[in-house]
Amino acid sequence: MDGPNIRACAATPGSTRRTGARAGRASRRLRLRHPEYNHGTSAPLKNAIDDLHLEWQYKPVGFVSYGGVAAGTRAVEQTKQVVTAVRMVPVVEAVTIPFFQQFLDEDGTVRANEPMEQGAAAMLDELVRVEEAPRPLRDAVAGAV
Ligand SMILES: Cc1cc2nc3c(=O)[nH]c(=O)nc-3n(C[C@H](O)[C@H](O)[C@H](O)COP(=O)(O)O)c2cc1C
Repeated sequence: MDGPNIRACAATPGSTRRTGARAGRASRRLRLRHPEYNHGTSAPLKNAIDDLHLEWQYKPVGFVSYGGVAAGTRAVEQTKQVVTAVRMVPVVEAVTIPFFQQFLDEDGTVRANEPMEQGAAAMLDELVRVEEAPRPLRDAVAGAV
């Protein structure tokens, strides 16, 4: 499941299952960095969800997507079907970055504009809110993984 999209899967760097699982267990909520390839979700990301479905169940998840004109949103909609199948809880609020190259500085760092900042703040607020309700469900399965 190595791949560039996995690094942000559990909000900490790592491309191995063990690292991802450890980060996924420690995180109470997840942000997925999400590209779009040919109008679809990415294979490494799908593989990560498949592989970590036990660790990630009942966790809220938000999406930071990027790409061309659609800013990765078509791919995010596909991924939402997958994350609900493994009992993750996707939030509506999101960060979407169209034509992402225009936001990169000379170091390759994204310089966020106001809509991105607002989307990020709304998404993080919602992740915190949604985290509370499924806590008993997470606690119940925590010993099993
Ligand atoms: C083969 C290929 C197909 C792509 N298809 C789309 C697409 O359908 N929609 C879109 O918004 N971006 C598309 N992109 C752009 C990617 O989502 C992404 O922005 C770009 O590849 C840079 O990100 P990466 O370095 O993580 O791949 C495509 C890129 C590649 C290489």
